[in-house]
Amino acid sequence: MVKQAIIPLAGLGTRLLPLSSVIPKELLPINGKPNLEYILDECIQAGIKQFIFVVPKNRPTIKQYFFNDCFYKKIIKKKKNDKRLKKVFQKIRRYQKMIKFVYQNKPEGTGHAVLQCKRHLKGTHFLMLLADDLIVEKNCSKEMIALHKKTKGSVIATKRVERKTVQRWGILGFKNRTKNSFLINEVIEKPKLSEAPSNYAIIGRYILPKKILSVLKYQGKGKGGEVHITDAIKTLVKRNEKFYGNIFKGKYIDCGTLEGFINSGLTISKYL
Ligand code: G1P
Repeated sequence: MVKQAIIPLAGLGTRLLPLSSVIPKELLPINGKPNLEYILDECIQAGIKQFIFVVPKNRPTIKQYFFNDCFYKKIIKKKKNDKRLKKVFQKIRRYQKMIKFVYQNKPEGTGHAVLQCKRHLKGTHFLMLLADDLIVEKNCSKEMIALHKKTKGSVIATKRVERKTVQRWGILGFKNRTKNSFLINEVIEKPKLSEAPSNYAIIGRYILPKKILSVLKYQGKGKGGEVHITDAIKTLVKRNEKFYGNIFKGKYIDCGTLEGFINSGLTISKYL
């Protein structure tokens, strides 16, 4: 059973500057709702019971957003008949009960972020989501959990991208392709066009085995000086661990770039 989701939130958000200079990119609103809440709602619908937020200690905004009870209680006391306010607070409280914080003080990569969660991970597998990859219309995490239940393997969300953009993504090599999935036999983080085993890119949703922690423990830094989860996955794939690509059905919105973020409101409003 996949019940826990790790969400790395220690990135600097440089691609979204100046917007992300004060507000963390994950709290930037899209159609009146922070990016991160879309991710949480997708997970809750898919049956996730606990979120592990990986944040830097010196950036308290995300914690403040979810744990501001005094503030809400004061206003609710003043505006006793405000139903919307009560509902908003109830929703925040619901998230709050599910969130644990773990610290990563420098943006050292997704692999390093996962390693920091070690003592909180319980089951054999957990979900990891990159908050700037939104997938709307169909619940990608739900699809992935179903594929995990069927195969007992690990699962990565994937979509076909334009060949000339492979250098922007983690790219998968595969065999045994069916309509919506395949068995992964190669993973390369941001390959050159000539090295890319396909044009199926990793999109930020992963169901990973807890045993990946023992790989991460000894893994050095990869591209851009960060510890990438992609490199640990590569090691496990080489050891014949089963990893499946889930060619998800929903619509992908890349909220990690300014162009994607600008278009996200419009795109989301079409699918909600
Ligand atoms: C990260 C991952 C990459 C993946 C991408 C999806 O890259 O490292 O494998 O394809 O997310 O958005 P980043 O966006 O942090 O450069």
